[in-house]
Amino acid sequence: MEKYIIKGGAELKGEVTIGGAKNAALGILAASIMTDEDVLVENIPDVNDINVMLEAIEHIGAVVERIGKHTVRINGSTINSCEVDDDFMRRIRASYYFIGSLLGKYKNAKVPLPGGCAIGARPIDQHIKGFEALGASISIRGGYLSTSADRLHCAHIYFDVVTVGATINVMMAACMAEGQTIIENAAREPHIVDVANFLNSMGARIKGAGTDTIRITGVRSLHGTQYAIIPDQIEAGTFMCMAAACRGDILIKNVIPKHLESITAKLLEMGNIVYEYDEAVRVIGAPKQRHTDVKTLPYPGFPTDMQPQITVALALAEGASIVTESVFENRFKYVEELIRMGADIRVERNVAVVDGIERFSGASISAPDLRAGAALVIAALQAEGTSVIDGIGYIRRGYENFDKKIAALGGNIENA
Ligand code: UD1
Repeated sequence: MEKYIIKGGAELKGEVTIGGAKNAALGILAASIMTDEDVLVENIPDVNDINVMLEAIEHIGAVVERIGKHTVRINGSTINSCEVDDDFMRRIRASYYFIGSLLGKYKNAKVPLPGGCAIGARPIDQHIKGFEALGASISIRGGYLSTSADRLHCAHIYFDVVTVGATINVMMAACMAEGQTIIENAAREPHIVDVANFLNSMGARIKGAGTDTIRITGVRSLHGTQYAIIPDQIEAGTFMCMAAACRGDILIKNVIPKHLESITAKLLEMGNIVYEYDEAVRVIGAPKQRHTDVKTLPYPGFPTDMQPQITVALALAEGASIVTESVFENRFKYVEELIRMGADIRVERNVAVVDGIERFSGASISAPDLRAGAALVIAALQAEGTSVIDGIGYIRRGYENFDKKIAALGGNIENA
């Protein structure tokens, strides 16, 4: 199994350029098959989850033409199956976006049900509620969700929880339903706005994405487009926390600073310096940092996908910080690994009490999931001594060239 070997303590200084948003790309690629015309998607990150998504698109019969590392042309006119193979769902949960895109376009989809995962149970009841409201019938058999409709009609849908996945999935299907659908209590993440902008560039009529009420007027068909994906908020936030935790000085380029505000606010409260530019942020980690409390929330709150990385930074700040995870129930697994590196953290259910220490010490540790894996890399970069991190396949799911970008900043990281 591949590992990162990290010798901690190197000064991190310089520039890093952020790639396209993985979670936006997953929705956009699933939506790209909703037309029979060519769709050109630019700024896709070259990460494993995206490559699996492209394989899944090919597998149902669409043409996928990779034009360089970050651009792909997709043509959905040759799709010959509305069934997504179980293998794809095992590799990426976001395969469930095919329910929305295939149901919208073909009024028919058969997609494996996602199971729970390392961070929680993750039900999809809100997705189902939305599709049924649009007039689709749903049956679950043999681990697959089958859905079909003679026609989809508009609906007024109120989500019981704020969910990114259901907002995107139901929004896609509603684009091709008759009449005006209203989604209330919609998620507001930047990637929801990006998927909506992408669909609108294909001729969809979506208004209000980015607020909690989205109005979608259905159209009969969608057309081809050329579209560039927004920068990845979480990759950017990860390097921001890295600069803070390692007392580095990193200019993080190709970002939308507005999307980073909740992270910027916490780093400032801790005493770090953050400069915002039009398309960049610079974070200078203060030698002495203060404790603060963090609670994860749907956007514009503090992202759950940044919880492990900020926890690593707080584990090195003076005093006791309280981190509350309110989106997923099981997202503190990595804390056991941090404790092996000397962290002083107690977890009770969804709350971690983090007492600051001076420095981690290197250890052999294992990445339990994507974002926690990135957080452990940050800890290892700050640690005294050498750390060996396995499970880096998780990190590759969402970070392109993570080790190379860190090495270019001066980090001592080797991929063995
Ligand atoms: C997406 C992101 C993930 C991020 C999460 C929260 C993608 C591909 N993944 O995941 O990286 O951590 O948003 O920002 O974009 N829920 C229900 N019923 C449902 C759907 C969700 O109860 O039908 C619950 C979930 O269990 C969770 C909460 O709602 O507790 C939020 O989940 P959701 O926003 O849907 O997360 P994902 O879309 O799966």
